[in-house]
Amino acid sequence: MSFIICDDIKMLDGKVKKLSMSELKNKNYEFSKITARPFKSKKGVMWQLEKSKNNQVFHQNMSEEEFLLWLSSEGKETFRQICLTGEGVTVHYTVFPDKVKRKETGNALKVNTQSHNKEKSYILKQGENIPALVDLGVFSKELTIVKSKYDKFKQINRFIEIIDDAFGRLNKDDVTILDFGCGKSYLTFIVYYYFTEIKKVKAKVIGYDLKEDVVKNCNEIAKRYGYNDLKFYVNDVTKGELYEGNVDMVITLHACDIATDFALFHAIENNVQHIFSVPCCQHEVCSSIKKGGDFDLLLSHGLIKERFSALLTDSIRAEILKECGYEVDIIEFVDFAHSPKNLMLRCKLKKSRKPQLEAVKTLTEKYGFTQKLFELIAKEK
Ligand SMILES: C[S@@+](CC[C@H](N)C(=O)[O-])C[C@H]1O[C@@H](n2cnc3c(N)ncnc32)[C@H](O)[C@@H]1O
Repeated sequence: MSFIICDDIKMLDGKVKKLSMSELKNKNYEFSKITARPFKSKKGVMWQLEKSKNNQVFHQNMSEEEFLLWLSSEGKETFRQICLTGEGVTVHYTVFPDKVKRKETGNALKVNTQSHNKEKSYILKQGENIPALVDLGVFSKELTIVKSKYDKFKQINRFIEIIDDAFGRLNKDDVTILDFGCGKSYLTFIVYYYFTEIKKVKAKVIGYDLKEDVVKNCNEIAKRYGYNDLKFYVNDVTKGELYEGNVDMVITLHACDIATDFALFHAIENNVQHIFSVPCCQHEVCSSIKKGGDFDLLLSHGLIKERFSALLTDSIRAEILKECGYEVDIIEFVDFAHSPKNLMLRCKLKKSRKPQLEAVKTLTEKYGFTQKLFELIAKEK
């Protein structure tokens, strides 16, 4: 969604007063003029659009994300003259098909010119022809992001950026990747697309899921686009047989509860170099933990217990991975607004080693809970 006006709005960081759009490029457009103003609400920053048509005015509210998305697609295509008024700055933009002419008075944005020139460039761009994303309903036929899929788009885009960052250091011209709990497989398709079409690397990508219909649909889409090395299998990863060859990367995006633990276990057991895992619904610890020590205060209220158990689960996973020889970062892979399940375990194998597991064992004994990855690794020790 790189559009200079969106970047200016972001850079002004709450200091925009209004945006006026006029002079139609598309004469059939319903409204002759639109003025947009930001306002704060319980849901965060919203924008109110005042749309003029035959001396009548209509109002529409949008979240800031939706507004920026609208501005970079419909707004950009429709209006030739756009004027941004902010604290200490006014910017006039003339939007041509191939460029935007920009004239600024005031100095609020000039101080940021340097960072402005380094515009963020997303790996998957709106308008890029990624046919599988249209089939999966993330892009419309016009290649704009479907509104209800915007959060998913953000997640897969960021996921790919993180993989891209690591792949620079992978130094390989073929990769094998397993996706546990792939579901509708937005991410799985994009990972395959990224490696084969963007990186021009030979990629074998396998997605596992419990749902037969979803797996069937994904295999059909993969076949339609000739994605011969993208395969989906109906497989309960907690008991099914998994790919036995060399694997370079294991990914999970919101694989339910202990499905994540089986993915991590498979990665550890097979010395998989890279793991990118975004856990979800960490029920196991929550349903088994009991009071037993210094953390009791965190176990008195259902909601806190649930959140604490989720954090404890991911901390234990990170600790076990570290003990097994991985360098582990826990990062917020997208903003909370795009998914409340936004922690990612980003792991890179340094040197495989036997874990001690003492700290985790002490905790499980003291608080009487079970944790699947711990159980699986302890059994192998
Ligand atoms: C919340 S969805 C996430 C799907 C996808 N990764 C995404 O982010 O869009 C979780 C998926 O994990 C799958 N799943 C849960 N337990 C599983 C298991 N034991 N084996 C395989 N798949 C599992 C579910 O069927 C579901 O499709």
